[in-house]
Amino acid sequence: MIFFSGLNLDKYEGSQLSSLTLLDISEGMLNEAKRRVAGLENLQGVPVTIITADATKDLVDRFGNQSFDTVVDSFSLCVMGSEGAIQCLEQMSQIVKSTGQVLLLENSRSDNSLLGIYQDATAETAAMVGGKGCVYNQNVGALIRRTGCLAVQEERSYAAGLFRAYVCVRS
Ligand SMILES: C[S@@+](CC[C@H](N)C(=O)[O-])C[C@H]1O[C@@H](n2cnc3c(N)ncnc32)[C@H](O)[C@@H]1O
Repeated sequence: MIFFSGLNLDKYEGSQLSSLTLLDISEGMLNEAKRRVAGLENLQGVPVTIITADATKDLVDRFGNQSFDTVVDSFSLCVMGSEGAIQCLEQMSQIVKSTGQVLLLENSRSDNSLLGIYQDATAETAAMVGGKGCVYNQNVGALIRRTGCLAVQEERSYAAGLFRAYVCVRS
């Protein structure tokens, strides 16, 4: 299962997918995803389901426990606020199989102290003015640890930690 408008759907290896579920709270984003899926060669023949739902509270009710091999989120935790992000991570941890993985690609606070201070000083304003609600200085590793139900297997940092990718499993 993936949340999003589908910007990176062309990167998926269709032959590796038995099905694909796309989820976002915004119907507009999902309409974009729908248009994109229709034109993508790599997803021809893959059963795709598109669902409008709130990932901070609807996932377990909607899908049940341990229903996906892999759950992917890119750049959504930053718009949910810390508590929303934790709720979303908890929901993801429940719908992924015990043998599965939660894959995250997120905005995050930089390891570079000057950049981190700049992010802290500007994050709230940037989120309100043109940033579409994205608070880009989240400490995503700390949010994952606070859930108590996900463990980080692998973390990769990009651009001095402005972006991070996580491979997580249920703990
Ligand atoms: C910055 S965009 C990222 C879009 C996409 N994931 C990508 O990587 O291109 C954040 C997305 O999170 C979605 N979103 C925000 N809160 C959500 C929620 N509670 N449940 C599901 N999606 C949510 C927004 O509608 C938006 O599409």
